[in-house]
Parts: sequence; structure tokens; C-alpha cells
Amino acid sequence: MKGLIFVELMNFLDEQLGDAITERVVEAASLPNDAAFTTVGNYPSHYAADLVAAAARMTGADAALMCEDFGRFLFQRFQTRFPHLLSRYTSARELLEHVQGHIHEEVKVIYPDASPPQVETHSDIEGYTVTYRSGRGFAHIAYGLVAQCISFYSEQSDVSWKSGSTDTQACFIIRPRKGIYPL
Ligand code: HEM
Repeated sequence: MKGLIFVELMNFLDEQLGDAITERVVEAASLPNDAAFTTVGNYPSHYAADLVAAAARMTGADAALMCEDFGRFLFQRFQTRFPHLLSRYTSARELLEHVQGHIHEEVKVIYPDASPPQVETHSDIEGYTVTYRSGRGFAHIAYGLVAQCISFYSEQSDVSWKSGSTDTQACFIIRPRKGIYPL
């Protein structure tokens, strides 16, 4: 997985835990490269899971919730890093519909060795659904990205996990918040 994601994970840990604890997390995760990441490098995706697991052990936090918070943080970093990719969309739905066909395709142009996950959308009786698929198993990060995308557009919607979702294949259902009716 691209170093960019790891660089932002380290920034997230620094922001949440401070430098000193982040240093101890890195030691506890015992990564071969001491968590020295560059944005253009490529690293085994389990390094990210190892870092989050070590941080969760050390702080008593829930690893899945930490991944969701990281997803929210990551979306905000994407706003700064890729403003040209986000600026053409005017709603969460529009952006989410174009992650697969445009955003992650552009990512592959910027980083030819990238292999982003599959992110598809559709509407059915249950609501508007985003489906994430990736052997890397970062569904909780995907959930945080989707949730922050909705906040970014100040939309009053709730995101819930469809039952049967797993770390490698998950569906998120987006519905207008109770008491709020779409125009
Ligand atoms: C806001 C625009 C977005 C940008 C610029 C972006 C960019 C990226 C980049 C650069 C990577 C690393 C790819 C690699 O290492 O091969 C990535 C991976 C990922 N993207 Fe996106 N992405 C965006 C939106 C989203 C959204 C909305 C989702 C939600 C489903 C998503 C889900 C993920 C996940 C979970 C990964 C981690 C790798 C994996 O699970 O296989 N992305 N994205």
C-alpha cells in the first residue's frame, strides 16, 4: 500500500497520542523499517494494522474505532492533498459515485504502482449503499472516509454497516438523519 497512507497514519497517531507515545507504539509494532515511510514508497499493508493494534494495546482504545477515526482524518488530509480531485463534486453522493471511476483512477496516474480498493455505489430499498472490497481488509478506514465525506458536504445523513459486512467486503447504508427529509 502507498506510503502516503502510512505517512498520514503516523500524523494521525502523533496528533492523537503525541510524539512520545507514538514512538513507543512504533517500537511495540516492531516494524522492520522503524516506521520510516515516504509518500511514494510502497509498504506491506499489514504494517498499518500492526501500528493500529500496537496503539490500541498501549492506550486501551478499540482498534476498529481507531481505524474509523483514522478514516475521518485521512479524508481531511485528502482535501488538502488532492483539492483538484474533490473540487468538482458538490455532494457526498456525487463524490462517492466517482471514487471508483475517477478518484482512484487518478490515484493510479499519480502513483502507477498503487492498487486502490474497489468502491461501488448503488441505491436499493434499504437506501443509498457504498460497497468496499479489498483484500487488505480496511473496511473500518473506509467507513471513516465515507462518514467524513458526508460531514465535508454538511449533509444530515447517517451511515450504518449492513449486516454481514466483513473487513474485506463491507456495505455502508446512507440514509437521511431521522426527522430530516430530503427535498
Ligand atoms: C477523497 C478522495 C479520495 C482519494 C484522493 C483517495 C486516495 C487513495 C489513495 C492514494 C490510496 C492508496 C492506494 C494504494 O496504496 O494503492 C487509497 C486507498 C484507499 N482508499 Fe481511497 N481515496 C479517496 C476516497 C476514498 C473513499 C471515499 C473511500 C471509501 C470507501 C476510500 C477507500 C480507501 C481505502 C479503505 C484505502 C486503503 C487501501 C485498501 O483498503 O485496499 N477512498 N485511496
